[in-house]
Amino acid sequence: MNQAEVTSGDRHDDRHSTESGRLPAKLARGDDPFSKSCHGVAVADRGRSLKIGDVSIASPFFQAALSGYSDLPMRVLARRHGAAYTLCEVMLDQFLVQLTDRPKTRHFLEISPEESPVGGQLMGSEPEQFAAGAVKLAAAGFNVIDINFGCPVKKVLGRCRGGFHLSQPEVALEIVARTRDAVPADRPVTVKMRRGIDDTAEALDHFFRILDGAFSLGVAAVTVHGRTVQQRYVGPSSWPFLAEVKRHVGPQRLIFGSGDLFTADDCLRMIDQTGVDGVTIARGAIGNPWIFRQVDALWRGEPMPPPPTLAEQAEVIREHYRLCQQTYGEKRSTVMMRKFCIKYSASHPDHATVRAALVGVGSMAEVESVLQTHYADDRPGCYVGPEVHGAQQEGGS
Ligand SMILES: Cc1cc2nc3c(=O)[nH]c(=O)nc-3n(C[C@H](O)[C@H](O)[C@H](O)COP(=O)(O)O)c2cc1C
Repeated sequence: MNQAEVTSGDRHDDRHSTESGRLPAKLARGDDPFSKSCHGVAVADRGRSLKIGDVSIASPFFQAALSGYSDLPMRVLARRHGAAYTLCEVMLDQFLVQLTDRPKTRHFLEISPEESPVGGQLMGSEPEQFAAGAVKLAAAGFNVIDINFGCPVKKVLGRCRGGFHLSQPEVALEIVARTRDAVPADRPVTVKMRRGIDDTAEALDHFFRILDGAFSLGVAAVTVHGRTVQQRYVGPSSWPFLAEVKRHVGPQRLIFGSGDLFTADDCLRMIDQTGVDGVTIARGAIGNPWIFRQVDALWRGEPMPPPPTLAEQAEVIREHYRLCQQTYGEKRSTVMMRKFCIKYSASHPDHATVRAALVGVGSMAEVESVLQTHYADDRPGCYVGPEVHGAQQEGGS
């Protein structure tokens, strides 16, 4: 499997949002549904930054690693809208080891000055090669090196990568040890895990062996997605499991939560219900960078910002396109933008019509024409709910 296969298999199985599935009217009116005493951490204490090793992170709301999505343009936009930390899409260790400075692949290691701190993520099967790949990420300037032990894609598991390592704690911990040793000491190493390979007692035991072992080996934080590898995306992410993990490691060790974060409310509820130190917003941020400013406002005890107006949405779509053009050139930008545009359409009140118009765009001029037709008459947009993203999976199977 090459890097292109890692990033190309997403199933764009977008479900249209329905009026009934949208956020309650009281949110749409901009009320603050959160009392200032809830969400565990008092509002006054929320200004404190987190530290992943020596890397300071301004708030607990991060852009998750998303294969096929969390490239430089998406990460920069997430930062501009308030994400405190972003993670690059996963890369294969062998791809990284072989990577040379060619125009076609340069973007994989490109980092914008705007996005520090940014995490680079990798996956692989052999501990030695894994460490060599991690060194490449560190040399490229990624501030944090994240090890992927979570990918559930069949081809990835078949090659003993990603989530497969949750079934072999010894190899997983050797990967962590070698990576920690190989990467410069000032560069924190973190791990991303699902809650186990499956629901057996053995899988649970393996999870905690890897978790405890990784912290003992010096990882600075672990992100836990509360679904099993076998589960893929069927059924909910277990937040009670995240709470158990956080209780288990105690206050000094950082746990970040993942799974079913589709609204600003979800992000605060996860922190409140599980005690995790930060949350990584994944599908909920695709075509919806506004989620970061929304959650940031609620976190600071301010009212929920209104959804972006059509003029704001059009401006962000143009901005996203410009970032793509700078990163990929004109031809590839349209292909990259199409999948984002489909998600952007979910914030438009006439989302079905706009989605149909955006789905086939073949150039920036065509995107601009859709913007002129459907976004020029400025009016309020919509909050995006879980129904927009719920069917999407990584790897497409
Ligand atoms: C299309 C897609 C690509 C993903 N790529 C990655 C990845 O490269 N690295 C990673 O650690 N997780 C990846 N994930 C998992 C997400 O980071 C996140 O853990 C998962 O989607 C659960 O969060 P959600 O339910 O809020 O979307 C991906 C998920 C999706 C849907």
